[in-house]
Amino acid sequence: MNVDFYEKIWMWTAAAIVVLFLAFVGVSTFAQGIHPPSHVETIDPTKVFQDPRFARIGTPTELPDGTIEVQVAAIMFAFVPNEICVPPGRRIRFRMTSADVTHGFLIAGTNANTMIVPGYISQFTTVFDKPGDYLLVCHEFCGNGHHAMHGRVIVDASAAVAKASGGAAHQEAH
Ligand code: CUA
Repeated sequence: MNVDFYEKIWMWTAAAIVVLFLAFVGVSTFAQGIHPPSHVETIDPTKVFQDPRFARIGTPTELPDGTIEVQVAAIMFAFVPNEICVPPGRRIRFRMTSADVTHGFLIAGTNANTMIVPGYISQFTTVFDKPGDYLLVCHEFCGNGHHAMHGRVIVDASAAVAKASGGAAHQEAH
């Protein structure tokens, strides 16, 4: 079969592009650890403040594996709590949910960035290397007070952390 020279160029170009895209996916997945949200855990948004999984709002709690869990509820138009104090250099697991509409959760200058969707628990784990005072903002339009929905994340070695006792804090492999 005779394949035209220019046809060959385009065939090899198309093949190279496919290989390049697969390489991008491979690097972002395995080297950079970028994954789509996979932690599907549901909750009744009308009972967030009665749910035992959110019994430690405002109390960062050290889990048996050393990770510090921070529970946050998002409501129109505030984060509960709106001031979060955690130590640097530790694995911090944020567990968040909404009691009303969809909100956002972004800690400026860090890789902490997720949506908070009513009915679901959003979770991610991060490490703050640099102590400091970080701005926490809602970056999903949630209503008239959206622009006022913000808080602070204070990363400081003196942050108070409670110990999980008797399974009080929710522990789950991720
Ligand atoms: Cu909450 Cu915008």
